[in-house]
Amino acid sequence: MPEAPWWKRGVVYQIAVSSFADANGDGRGDLRGIIDRLDYLNDGTDGSLGVDAVWLTPIYTSPLSDFGYDVSDYRSIDPRFGTMEDFDELVEECHRRGIRVVMDLVLNHTSIHHPWFVESRSSRDNPRRDWYIWRDGRAPGKPPNSWVAVVEGSAWEYDDTTGQYYYHAFLPFQPDLNWRNPEVREEMFGVARFWLAKGVDGFRLDLVNCLYEDEGLRNNPPKLGPRPYLAQKHIHDLSQPENLEVAGELRQLVEDFGDCVLMGEVLTLTPDVCIDYLGDGTDRLHLSFYMEFVRTKWNAEAFRHSVRWLEEHVPPGGWPCYYLNNHDLKRSFTRLGGRHARERAKVAAAMLLTLRGTPILYYGEEIGMPSSRVPRGLLDDPVGLKFWPLRVGRDGSRTPMHWNAAENAGFSAWESWLPVDSSYRTRNVEQEAVRADSILNWYRRLLSTRRAHPALHSGDYREIGGVPKGVFAYTRRAGSKTVAVYLNFAARNTECPPPKAPPGTTWRVLLSTHGTEDGRDLPRIQLAAHEALLLEATYS
Ligand code: NOJ
Repeated sequence: MPEAPWWKRGVVYQIAVSSFADANGDGRGDLRGIIDRLDYLNDGTDGSLGVDAVWLTPIYTSPLSDFGYDVSDYRSIDPRFGTMEDFDELVEECHRRGIRVVMDLVLNHTSIHHPWFVESRSSRDNPRRDWYIWRDGRAPGKPPNSWVAVVEGSAWEYDDTTGQYYYHAFLPFQPDLNWRNPEVREEMFGVARFWLAKGVDGFRLDLVNCLYEDEGLRNNPPKLGPRPYLAQKHIHDLSQPENLEVAGELRQLVEDFGDCVLMGEVLTLTPDVCIDYLGDGTDRLHLSFYMEFVRTKWNAEAFRHSVRWLEEHVPPGGWPCYYLNNHDLKRSFTRLGGRHARERAKVAAAMLLTLRGTPILYYGEEIGMPSSRVPRGLLDDPVGLKFWPLRVGRDGSRTPMHWNAAENAGFSAWESWLPVDSSYRTRNVEQEAVRADSILNWYRRLLSTRRAHPALHSGDYREIGGVPKGVFAYTRRAGSKTVAVYLNFAARNTECPPPKAPPGTTWRVLLSTHGTEDGRDLPRIQLAAHEALLLEATYS
């Protein structure tokens, strides 16, 4: 069997660059900080985490008004993160360790401070006017249509300079580029080529289904919903067919540079849209984020259902992609955790790292970082500020990484840009590394087991039926090798049937949250409360 490409076999680790490690002591994470910590991510031994790729949140020059998702120059590094030389060194050092580098690419919008927008807004006949979406209002004080921004409020902002409105799918300081203008398209493809030529291994595409809007800017039909954005059917502002063409062209572009990957953030409430972006599995994105998974509550049946849906819908040549955390979500330790957060974190990790699909980890998840409560006066996230105190913003999942119990959690020599969560004193890399039963060591074991067993990284997936309530169980199989995974979501011991297998099969414990001792009492499998158990089949 030919080996699957790295982006199918591997584990991706998302680094929120501002929050990972600060080498220059200004309180914000930077590229040199990442370089210093690469051995933690993968030093080639089972003692490190062992990830295969890093995805960096945007590091381009930016006012950083939205965590870097407001770019003002796509071909340079923001000085707060370092220099282009630092970047080159980071890529080289990653590659030396077998770590691929995936950059975040924000194609949908720029910052209002991008020189293109500055020019575009300066006059109606500026050559860059059409690089953004400008329209007259319907009437004085009335925006061109009824579209609502993802973060609520009209998606149109009136600009005094020329007396027209510009469109923004997200925040008003993030004007949408006009992808119907061929120059914009060419320029953004040029940006992708620029970074690929520098050696990056692919892109995470921000809001990839938002690039195009309906040409006639028709209003979305209304529907029932708890807030204005959710009270529209987003059929004219989201997921236009032209986006799929861009995905296809980008795929060709990145593949001209080798085995590079495109992972797309597809903003949708209906999971089938994320499937559209996979095409037939070979002609659009390599990976598309499955948002249903992170909307799932702590419930074995719900996760089984969610996985079943994706398994049934991913096209034959395609590949699933799972994550439990990112910089926009409440951390899973808090979201799913409750009273049993530590135990659940291990069960969740076992699921994420043994399902059929590419797992994405988010910095700090591997040490059980919780979502932090950031006081109002220290909030940075524009969404958090906009909705405070009604909705919790995203700063809580972006606080600095806990490296050790020293001041500022070993993240920075200076006060950090967001406060460090107080749990750092007892929950940090240094302490987790020496505790045999820590969450970190569980992640390390899972990753090394996954690496060593092709069934786990490349095999097929089959549910194990007939398990009691609260258990999610499945097998992964490649060739003659089978691994069975039992996940007990419940806080009570239970008993399960063994996986179906030919007579003469014996099962050996590969890994368990409760010790790896052999000799389970088959044919029934006893599971302890919150146990995650991996069994390997041996055929006689
Ligand atoms: C999605 C990103 O994940 C989020 O952090 C950002 O604010 C928006 N896109 C706008 O770029």
